[in-house]
Amino acid sequence: MTMTNTKSDNSRPVKIVAIGAGNRTAKYLHYILNNPDKAELVGVVELNDLRRQNVAKQAGLSSDRCFRTYEEFFSNPVEADAVMICTPENVHFKPCMLALEHGYHILLEKPIAQTLQECKTIADEARKRGKIVAVCHVLRYHPYFVKMKELVKSGRLGRVISITHRASVGIDRSGHSYVRGIWSRVDDTNPMLLSKCCHDVDFLIWLTDSRCRKLASFGSLSWFIDKNAPEGAAARCIDCKAEASCPFSAVNLYKVRHEWIANFDVPEGKTIDDVIDCELREGRYGRCVFHCDNDVVDHQVLAMELENDITINMSMDLFTLDDCRATHISLTEAEIEGDERVITVKHFRSGKKEIYDYSDVDGLPFHAGADLRVVEDFIEGISNPDHKVLTHIDDSIESHRICYEAELSRLGKL
Ligand SMILES: NC(=O)c1ccc[n+]([C@@H]2O[C@H](COP(=O)([O-])OP(=O)(O)OC[C@H]3O[C@@H](n4cnc5c(N)ncnc54)[C@H](O)[C@@H]3O)[C@@H](O)[C@H]2O)c1
Repeated sequence: MTMTNTKSDNSRPVKIVAIGAGNRTAKYLHYILNNPDKAELVGVVELNDLRRQNVAKQAGLSSDRCFRTYEEFFSNPVEADAVMICTPENVHFKPCMLALEHGYHILLEKPIAQTLQECKTIADEARKRGKIVAVCHVLRYHPYFVKMKELVKSGRLGRVISITHRASVGIDRSGHSYVRGIWSRVDDTNPMLLSKCCHDVDFLIWLTDSRCRKLASFGSLSWFIDKNAPEGAAARCIDCKAEASCPFSAVNLYKVRHEWIANFDVPEGKTIDDVIDCELREGRYGRCVFHCDNDVVDHQVLAMELENDITINMSMDLFTLDDCRATHISLTEAEIEGDERVITVKHFRSGKKEIYDYSDVDGLPFHAGADLRVVEDFIEGISNPDHKVLTHIDDSIESHRICYEAELSRLGKL
């Protein structure tokens, strides 16, 4: 069955089906449920029963609109304008191609897919079928990053010559997602630079309005490996003699601090503490960071020369307490410095400073509202043929190309 999508006006809400009902879908669903005049969730596809039922309950979906797998959904699709694909990236390519074949527009989580060729194939198919594929590069919608772009674009600070950008991943996020978690193995997902920092590379390319001419990258997995385990370390933190002083302790992160637990499902009759205890005893998140099966890097640097001669120095650092992005931009008339909270412009001739303080925005939910603006922009793109979405797949291919080439360079294969 092929859907015919004729929506090109604001006469009714855009009908959307969610594929994957985890952390990201929860953000986009917040927008949909709070803007019933603009969007309506008309179906959900999710392997996990609890999550599927939870979304169905929130959106008031009957059982014939709930599917376990995307194969089930596409063999008996629901009439809709669009799908949001918020599954892990090893479940992006196939549902994307099927969605395009069935005539849906797509709001697609990053990274687009698992190889550059797959990314290009989706973009080509979308173009051929006249469908929007918007990639969720939320920084383009975040007030702090929008201000940086505005300052550079204004031209009043001269021309950009070089940029230094540091993505501090933070040890908590690193241990949770890239050592113990579902982004810890390249074959299951992508090289870490792409999984974690395609947003950063996308931001830098968007900021400079250019493409990369040459790059070189270095990095490795050097700390989170067996041989670095403390003396007598156990396979699980709950059994470990070194737990009390280990900065990567799962007991401390989940049980004591109650951080990074948003994705732990709590079945009826259980409490979050029951779930944490069970995870520490049996789950992937209770494992010692030195005794996991991770193979993604734990530090990487990337140097780029762009087609407009700008040079960019970027590093992805996991060993930081903070989890933030810092950017320094050298222009011909001034320099811009930002730490994701405050942007300072220092003018060379006058020595004057301009300060833009986003400290009150930092830490606001939904990436300071950016997650909600991504959906809004996508919906506007579907409703209004003259509206070009800010994160169209054609614009995302470049950041993905850079990350894949960085991985080849790191491995000495470029
Ligand atoms: N834009 C951003 O800022 C941002 C932030 C975090 C994650 N992401 C990306 O979003 C995507 C999802 O991440 P998440 O944090 O929501 O993960 P998640 O694990 O919370 O959610 C993914 C859901 O997909 C479901 N799923 C997996 N395979 C499925 C299948 N075959 N059929 C149906 N459902 C399936 C899982 O059960 C899970 O509930 C990833 O690509 C990730 O890289 C983007």
